[in-house]
Amino acid sequence: RTWLPKLLGDKPKDYTVRIWIPGCSTGEEVYSVAMVLRECLVQCRRDCQVQIFGTDIDERAIETARTGAYPSNIVADVSPQRLKRFFTKQGDVYRIRKDIREMVIFASQNLIKDPPFTKLDLLCCRNLLIYLDPELQKKLFPLFHYTLKPGGLLFLGSSESAGGFQDYFAVLDKKWKICQRKETVATAVVDFPPPGLTRTSNEKEAATEARKVRPGVLPELVTRLLLDEYSPACVVINEKAEIHYIHGRTGKYLEPAVGQANLNIVDMAREGLKFELSAAIRKARRQEKDVSYRDLQVRSNGGHQRVNLTVKPLREPENLRGMLLVVFEDMGPLRSAETGKTPIRLPALQRQRVNELEQELKYTREHLQTTVEELETSNEELKSTNEELQSTNEELQSTNEELETSKEEMHSLNEELTTVNAELQSKLEQLTHARDDMKNLLDSTRIATIFLDNNLCVKRFTSEANRVINLIPSDLGRPISHIVSNLKHEALVEEVEQVINTLVPRETKVQSKDERWYLMRIMPYRTVENVIEGAVITFVDIQLLQEQIRSAEQFRKLSAAAAPLFQFIEGAMETTREPLLVLDATLRVIMASRRFYQTFQADSAGIEGRFIYELSAGAWNIPRLRELLEEIIPRNSHFEDFELEHDFPGMGRKRMLLNARRIVYEKDAVSMVLLAIEDVTGSA
Ligand SMILES: C[S@@+](CC[C@H](N)C(=O)[O-])C[C@H]1O[C@@H](n2cnc3c(N)ncnc32)[C@H](O)[C@@H]1O
Repeated sequence: RTWLPKLLGDKPKDYTVRIWIPGCSTGEEVYSVAMVLRECLVQCRRDCQVQIFGTDIDERAIETARTGAYPSNIVADVSPQRLKRFFTKQGDVYRIRKDIREMVIFASQNLIKDPPFTKLDLLCCRNLLIYLDPELQKKLFPLFHYTLKPGGLLFLGSSESAGGFQDYFAVLDKKWKICQRKETVATAVVDFPPPGLTRTSNEKEAATEARKVRPGVLPELVTRLLLDEYSPACVVINEKAEIHYIHGRTGKYLEPAVGQANLNIVDMAREGLKFELSAAIRKARRQEKDVSYRDLQVRSNGGHQRVNLTVKPLREPENLRGMLLVVFEDMGPLRSAETGKTPIRLPALQRQRVNELEQELKYTREHLQTTVEELETSNEELKSTNEELQSTNEELQSTNEELETSKEEMHSLNEELTTVNAELQSKLEQLTHARDDMKNLLDSTRIATIFLDNNLCVKRFTSEANRVINLIPSDLGRPISHIVSNLKHEALVEEVEQVINTLVPRETKVQSKDERWYLMRIMPYRTVENVIEGAVITFVDIQLLQEQIRSAEQFRKLSAAAAPLFQFIEGAMETTREPLLVLDATLRVIMASRRFYQTFQADSAGIEGRFIYELSAGAWNIPRLRELLEEIIPRNSHFEDFELEHDFPGMGRKRMLLNARRIVYEKDAVSMVLLAIEDVTGSA
């Protein structure tokens, strides 16, 4: 809030603010500085260019910094306003916006060994010095001084300080560790790595002292001296022709290029050197051998300089492979006789020809210059397109990674679903089997069953049920009260409600409109969890039972009432030669003649009181015979010579003729059936 506006305050419109952040780790500090600077520029209404270099020794940290993507927990550190203004939310991550990302260049760099960034307005070196030993720290402050422009700011971490380097820096803010470069100490040319950065006279004396005491360093110093004095100026460049290292004084051959700061050697080459330098670099790179140009005339400081230029591809040491060494050999200034300014006497025709050729050469040079500039422009455009493509590629890559992750998640989800599906399938099969079993059980019991829910709507019913209540499949879901019943029983709905409310089962004998008797049982419907979910009504057909009870009752009455008659009949039957049976109204045997017992090998205990169709292993259980016998009492009918053929137990196959008629005992109006059986086996 205080120092940045001051730093930016007096800068011209097209000024480029240069900031270096060494040890930037994964980039949070760099983007923070970029955001603060952007806010500051808006606040000061300035329109400067900003170039922030974020460097770190850790390549992976730099890779992360380049992505500009941070997890959602940054909300704890970044204000909502800044999050909204400078980030875009992409799923779980916050990605820094393009305009902020474009302010920053990330590179891997070792602060101790690699050349520094220079001409800086601000250097943020926070929480890195604390990891370095004091000796190294001592060497880095002069380096920081060298890299900053006059008035440039140094921003340190909270536990670091520039104390002990008062010659280099003035402390502006003790709390926030903000210092400013001082101009009281001279900055020497940086020879990197930093041992000899800026040497004060005291340091020189100290060095002389050291020389005296330690003669071991002598060869190294001599080599250094020879290199400084006699070796030509040279520059190490990378494959993009960007300067990495400068040895000796190169000012006669190179000068900073106009426009945005850059380290391209061809851009920096002085007049007379550009084309040859560019060609030599291209050739040396292509052919992988040394390329030399001799006696080039380079324009410098108003005069001309003769230079031998050599470009040498480096193969050794390993870490310099792929780089090029550009050597400038100073051949002294060009004498005026050599500049071509002294006219040489030539015949007029040749002079004219030389003039023409010079003119053509000038034109060709200009043309070439234009072509080179166009090429450079298109090269720049290509570069920026390439950068865009690279960033698109990075985005695509990260999208791809996200897709890969989602694909894997989908895959595992799919596997889980397949397992669940298989389990469900087997459960479904078990359920189908259970349902089939249940249906068969219910059908086989022939018990009409109706399942109702709590609202007394029909949930399910067995096929028998529609004999009692007129149910059809489309009645499922309808209230039972809406369905027409075949019962002579009005209170069904109330009784079901009562069972659901009291949970006390209920049993009632009910009769249908077709005179059949059912035992109606209403029970609450309990789930496995013991929850009541409606009721179950069953109707057991007790018609037969009722009839048996009735006939047993009648039989009992008849036996008591007709005792004298039975004595008479018994006597009469003993005298007949035919087997005789006396049956009651329900066709139960009241008595049988002695002949019957003999013929059919039966005894009275085995037949009295039993239905006729149960006797002789079902020999008399013939529907037509039964029909005729059942009609005798109600219709007062009779039949004669009903023929039947059957395998009688212990008798073999026999043919019989049957005659039957009603006997009435007037006193109590008791009716019976007398059945005479004649064995006609063998007769025609
Ligand atoms: C504690 S972090 C500081 C990060 C950041 N400046 C901050 O204050 O949040 C120190 C960083 O310095 C980097 N570092 C350590 N030695 C270095 C060196 N010689 N050159 C460049 N970076 C170095 C480490 O990789 C690490 O990322």
